[in-house]
Amino acid sequence: MAVLKMKPGIHEVGAGDWDRTLFDELIPLPDGTSYNSFLIEGSEKTALIDTVDPSKEEILLENLSYIGVKNIDYVISHHAEQDHSGSIPIIITVYPKAKVVTNKKCKTMLMDHLHIKEDRFLVVEDGEELSLGDRTLQFHITPWVHWPETMVTLLKEDKVLFSCDFFGSHKASSKLFMEDKGQTYQAAKRYYAEIMMPFRSPIKSNIKKLEELDFDMIAPSHGPVYNDPDFIIDAYKKWTSDDVKNEVIVPYISMHGSTEKMVIHFVDYLMERGMKVTPYNLTTTDLGQFAMGIVDAATIVIGTPTVLVGPHPKMVYAASLVNALRPKTKFLSVIGSYGWGGRATQILEDNLNNLQAEMIEPIMVKGHPTRKDMKKVERLADEIMKKHKEAGL
Ligand code: FEO
Repeated sequence: MAVLKMKPGIHEVGAGDWDRTLFDELIPLPDGTSYNSFLIEGSEKTALIDTVDPSKEEILLENLSYIGVKNIDYVISHHAEQDHSGSIPIIITVYPKAKVVTNKKCKTMLMDHLHIKEDRFLVVEDGEELSLGDRTLQFHITPWVHWPETMVTLLKEDKVLFSCDFFGSHKASSKLFMEDKGQTYQAAKRYYAEIMMPFRSPIKSNIKKLEELDFDMIAPSHGPVYNDPDFIIDAYKKWTSDDVKNEVIVPYISMHGSTEKMVIHFVDYLMERGMKVTPYNLTTTDLGQFAMGIVDAATIVIGTPTVLVGPHPKMVYAASLVNALRPKTKFLSVIGSYGWGGRATQILEDNLNNLQAEMIEPIMVKGHPTRKDMKKVERLADEIMKKHKEAGL
């Protein structure tokens, strides 16, 4: 149990999840996560901003009890995903006067996922306000960050923007506010890569919309609160822009060393020519680290052996993940080996069809690569450097 004071009458009453190692049974969490829930006490009404994952509902209830909360009038639900909404049912049971305040779409999703009864809702529109007495909540619909029903709340008088997943980071911490900018940047970029990257376009328009508002603090429902909003807004603008970096990312797997030999030669050749290049051996790499790498690199070159007739199954999995995350990659290629044939490159290309990237001719070699094969690898590296130059990188 821990209650952290943000401002007089505003407390963070959620929970840290220090031991959680996976999100959505997919995303590695090297720093755990937090489910931030904020209690706002106005002169007339009290509001709770989001709740916590149901596994931590006891902590939320204890925190509310610890600071003596007798009544909650409104539970603001920004997003129906259960890590924020999953404890709404227990909250509205313990605090029977509480209304669940959300938009129309989120209401439907909360009814579907949590079976909350219709008469417990207060539906708000984009821009609508709700008075707590001396404090005012103003709601803004921000769809697709990262579900269709997402919204944010501006606490007008205090100039705090409560943003739920938007601008968040998976990081458990004993501190409410951001302390180490470098660490926070990395955690927020990892979060963006894994959760937000497929939604670059709606994020850009939502940022434009939020920039019209007057706030000097952003309080997401995961990770630290930003008392320097420009820090995270500028980072998001960079990540969602069409700009890419002069960088090559090389996810690879090798079973008997042939693909690895090609990958090492490719990486060394580029390094010697001053290029930024990062190999990720997918048998050991944390996929979140790899996802961060593809946020803004111009090129991805996949290294894979052929298993039966296709790419290594782990590479098919990684390609499907990249395809789902839709990075702004400009160029793609594949290098690797085969024993007697196969369709590894075609299968990978099919698995990456969401990317609007140019495929540079892959190099698949039979057996262990020869000197001649290594020359082909060098030619691929030269071609990529040329493409980067032509793209102004
Ligand atoms: Fe943190 Fe989309 O839930």
